[in-house]
Formats: sequence, structure tokens, C-alpha cells
Amino acid sequence: MLITPTFIILSNHLCFLVITMAYEEIRKALETDIFSNKKALYPSHPSNTLINRKKEAKALISSLKPTIENTKSQIILVSGPEGTGKTMTTTTILTRLKGVQILNIPCQIANTIRRALVAMLHSLNESIIPYETEEMKKRVLRKIEASKRPLIIYLQDFEWTTKRDRANMLSMLLLLPRPKTIIIETRHPGIIDRKALECQEIRFLPYTDQEIEQILKERSFEAFSPGALQKNVISTCAKLSRGNAKKAIKLLKTAGEVAEAQNLRRVTPNHVQLAAEQLQKSEILETLDKLPPQSKLVLHAILTLKRSGRNRLVTNNIYESYQKLCEEKGFRILTRRGFNNHLANLLQFGLITLKPRPKGSPSRTRTIGIDLDPKLEELVYQRTQQA
Ligand SMILES: Nc1ncnc2c1ncn2[C@@H]1O[C@H](COP(=O)(O)OP(=O)(O)OP(=O)(O)O)[C@@H](O)[C@H]1O
Ligand SMILES: [Mg+2]
Repeated sequence: MLITPTFIILSNHLCFLVITMAYEEIRKALETDIFSNKKALYPSHPSNTLINRKKEAKALISSLKPTIENTKSQIILVSGPEGTGKTMTTTTILTRLKGVQILNIPCQIANTIRRALVAMLHSLNESIIPYETEEMKKRVLRKIEASKRPLIIYLQDFEWTTKRDRANMLSMLLLLPRPKTIIIETRHPGIIDRKALECQEIRFLPYTDQEIEQILKERSFEAFSPGALQKNVISTCAKLSRGNAKKAIKLLKTAGEVAEAQNLRRVTPNHVQLAAEQLQKSEILETLDKLPPQSKLVLHAILTLKRSGRNRLVTNNIYESYQKLCEEKGFRILTRRGFNNHLANLLQFGLITLKPRPKGSPSRTRTIGIDLDPKLEELVYQRTQQA
């Protein structure tokens, strides 16, 4: 057969194309995804070891001794800021205890007496839940009295309850006719009258950056493919999360997702920065959705004042700006006291900060700080405009 030069050139090209395609296929097959098991970064993922919480774990075990010996009733307060391992440490210890009856009340969901009773009945393996609250109470009592095991009631994340529900829940639990330990876990120990209840308190302090790094390393072995994390990724996450393991783990997961969305196979510290901005934005927008209209209006007044070029955001001026906005939008003008409550609300959600009072300024006035990047500030301004 006669082979023309054009055909030879064409077949060379085809050959090259086939080789390149095969190379691409092989390269893709050899490459791994960023995540090997993303679930290891989910909040519910159990940790194999209690990293840096041995002291708190020991304190909790020794506080639980009288309960295990079934001798006396007591309240243990497990307190500390968000993401300091309170739930993880308490749950790890409770699940390792043998021969005790544990009633778990996750207050994020079980935040009323009724819901708490449903959670208690679930913990007592009751399959049919009665409709009447009084009937539920009777069933709980019957079950508890029938059991001879030492009783531990764990009120998880107690700050999610209202003041009234908290009081009702506690008085119901304290009246249970059995020696019992009530563990109250909360970020805000101030919601509990520690003296009146004679609580023992176990405090969880924020982790140091090094401790957060250790926690992240343990998780990342399970969650990421080998070599997927560039040097300094973990230390950047630790620095940005300020002692909060929950935040650090979320940040690491989001950084991985940011890199993945860019079709990359390695996470860099830059992805962590982008993830932090993304998380801050979604946190703030979520918080704005929860704010009452008057709090949004106060926030809008602060931003309006800032945009007008004021260097110092003083509460007196903010109140004036707020009054004007109320008139424009047809809102009821709150008294100074009501206005202050909404300022406190914004402070509690971390949307604003309080600056130190300059020497000689009147004690009623305070200076407010607001520290958002310009794009986010513009977005918050627009969202609060629709209060
Ligand atoms: N010492 C630790 N070792 C391993 N993982 C940890 C440790 N501390 C916290 N974590 C992880 O960080 C996340 C948050 O921890 P945890 O829920 O226990 O915090 P918390 O103090 O109860 O927070 P909150 O105030 O929101 O209830 C969980 O995913 C947990 O597994
Ligand atoms: Mg918790």
C-alpha cells in the first residue's frame, strides 16, 4: 500500500493525541481527591482521643463518684466558651460509665419542659410517648423509680432554654425522688444561680493555638488525602479560630471545599483566609436574619453614622440617628433604655464592640466599634435598610 506523506503526518498527530489522552487518564487516576473522609470534619464525628482535656475529664470523673456510689444528689456545672470541648468531654465520660442510668437532654432541641420530657423518655427507651405532659412526667417517674441504677441527668447546651423554661426544668428535676447528679453544660454560667444550687463548677478555658493544632492534626489524618494540606494550613486555622475547636474544624473543612471548588488538589493558607471570609459572611447574614427589627434599625443607624464620615461612633449620636430612622420608616421610637437593650443585643451577637471610654467623657456615652471588611459592611448596610 502506498502511504502518502500527508497521511504519515496525520497519523503522527493522532498518535500524539492518543498518547496525550492516555497520559491525562493515567494522571487523573493517580491523582486523589482532597478529602479522603470528609465526615471526620462533621461536628457529630466522634473523636478517638480526648486531646488536652485530661484535667477536666479527671475533675468530672471525681465529681461523679458520689453518684456512682448512689449516695447524694448534686449539680455539676460544666462551663466555658463555644467549642472548648464541653460536650465532647462530658459525652465521652458518660458513655464509658457502666451501670448508671443516663438521661440526656439536648437543650438545643429539647428546650421546653415538654420536649425535655420527650428526650428523657427516649433515654429511658420508652417507645410510645404519651400526649399529656402530666402523663409523661408520671411515666418518667415510674421508670426512674423502677431502676436501681445511679441516675445522671445531662442538660446539654442549657443556654438554649428561656429563663422560665430553665427554672421549670430544674425544679422538676430537683424534685425527682432519687439521689441524682444533674450536669448542666453551658457557655453562659451566669444563667445559673450557682450559690443557691450549690453547684460544683468545672471550667473549660479556650484552647491555645498549639492545642487546636493538635486537635486539627488528629482530624486531618482521617479527613484529608496524604499531602493535601500545604504547610501552615493547620497553624493558620488555629490562629484564626481563637481557641474554639468547633470553629477551627469548620474552617479547615471549608478551606478544603474552597480548594476543591477551584479544581485544585492542595489546600493552601490562602484558601483558609478565603474560607474565614466566607464563614464570617454566612455567620453574619444568619445572625441578621435572627435579629428583631429594632436591633436591625439600631445597627443601620450605626452604619449610617459611619458612612457620614464620623470618626467616633458615640452612643448619643447613634441614638439621634436611630430616632431619625424611626421617623423616616414609621417605627415606634424606643426610650433610651429600650435602645440600650438593642445595643446590648448587637454586642452579644458580636456585630459591634465597645471601645474604651476616653478620659473625661460623660459616663452615659459609650463609643462603639464596628469591624467588618468594606464589602461585608455594604451588604449589612443594605440588609438592615430593609428592617
Ligand atoms: N479536646 C478535643 N479533642 C478532639 N476534638 C475536640 C476536642 N475539643 C473539641 N473537639 C471537637 O470540637 C468540636 C466542638 O466541641 P464541643 O461540641 O465539645 O464544644 P462545646 O464546648 O460543647 O461547644 P458549645 O459551647 O458550642 O456547646 C467537636 O466536633 C469536638 O469533637
Ligand atoms: Mg456543647
